[in-house]
Amino acid sequence: MTDLILGQVLYYTDDPFQQGIAAAKHIAQGAVAVEGGRIAAVGEATALRARYPQARLHDHGQKLISAGFVDAHVHYPQTAIIASWGKRLIDWLNTYTFPEEMRFADRAYADDIANRYLDLVLARGTTTVCSYATIHPESVDAIFTAAQSRGMRVFAGKTCMDRNAPDGLRDTPQTAYDDSKRLLQKWHGVDRLSYVITPRFSPTSTPEQLAAMGALWREYPDCLMQTHLSEQTDEIAWVKDLFPQSRDYLDTYEAQGLLREGAVYGHAIHLTAREKARLVEAGASLVHCPTSNTFIGSGLFDMTLAQQLRVGLATDTGGGSNFSMLHTMAAAYEVAQLRGQSLHPSQLWWLATQGSARALRCEDKIGNLAPGMEADLVVIDLASTPAIEQATRRATDLWQQLFPTIMMGDDRAVSEVWLGGKRQTLA
Ligand code: GUN
Ligand code: ZN
Repeated sequence: MTDLILGQVLYYTDDPFQQGIAAAKHIAQGAVAVEGGRIAAVGEATALRARYPQARLHDHGQKLISAGFVDAHVHYPQTAIIASWGKRLIDWLNTYTFPEEMRFADRAYADDIANRYLDLVLARGTTTVCSYATIHPESVDAIFTAAQSRGMRVFAGKTCMDRNAPDGLRDTPQTAYDDSKRLLQKWHGVDRLSYVITPRFSPTSTPEQLAAMGALWREYPDCLMQTHLSEQTDEIAWVKDLFPQSRDYLDTYEAQGLLREGAVYGHAIHLTAREKARLVEAGASLVHCPTSNTFIGSGLFDMTLAQQLRVGLATDTGGGSNFSMLHTMAAAYEVAQLRGQSLHPSQLWWLATQGSARALRCEDKIGNLAPGMEADLVVIDLASTPAIEQATRRATDLWQQLFPTIMMGDDRAVSEVWLGGKRQTLA
């Protein structure tokens, strides 16, 4: 059976940071044909209706059909502590995050939050996330089980920490290696799930633990490895104390085999010239977390890096203050404005879809509308509230129509979500 989804269609033939707006393609009366969980065709509605006369039709009028959002850096266990007041990074971790992550020793609690989290993000049009779990192996089972039952493409890994974390939230180099390997063997490549090797960050891992993660990554080179890099200046000063031999923050990872293609570094705000050059040379990915970087007071990411590196966009739930990738695009726009750069709506939308997919090295599967891609789609109402509707009335092109939704939209703008060719019932 073919499903034919009708509406305005937005997809990309290239990277708008390299090729400009022409990289984005808009079909005003378009259609996406979906068969067997994948996209069979993208084109003009009249042509695809003629090509698929038997198809089940889903007519969305003027609404916009796009690839689903890809949130490239989240901590699903921080769902319940999102929007906690008044702290900067290290205090925020100690005050809010670590006590909450302690609760994930209880599998029932982990299941409850994993399901709650995925329902929250699906309702906001996010069809893939790359998540940190907690130190507890059960917390990885919980998120993968919840993703599997929804048919969602999800990346996740056990967060490893062997120092500077409270009792009950520390592993060792050996147990981190053993547990990560067991979880990787259990989940990596099962259905739409990918295991990610996940040392939290250098302040909470000894060099021995980072080395153990590097050894595991050498055994499973096709996995991603995720961690945090140069988020806050106090954190960077602390890393300097903890690793007196290292040239800089990146070197603490590089020295242990944790820098190459497939390395995904969250935040990466306060980078030195050497760090930038090495990241480019190594082909690493960076993830911009704009609501988190303003909420925790970390700083302003340099988006010009997107010209040289794979850069994804992320909420960083719950350091970030919102589950919505629309809100996150708005924050990315504002952060870039503060650095004197006006990101175009085509660039913002690309970052939230194909850009994040590229950062996670799965751009051949998700993050765009093209034949053969997995059918993870969102249908966006471009007039979801009176305030947005009135701001679009004089629009003369898609970008003017879309930008008010980027800046002011929320879950009300998300009309429909498809995962692997199946229309979801939103919670
Ligand atoms: N650095 C290390 N752990 C975390 C975390 O949980 N959130 C954020 N924002 N930064 C971190
Ligand atoms: Zn994070």
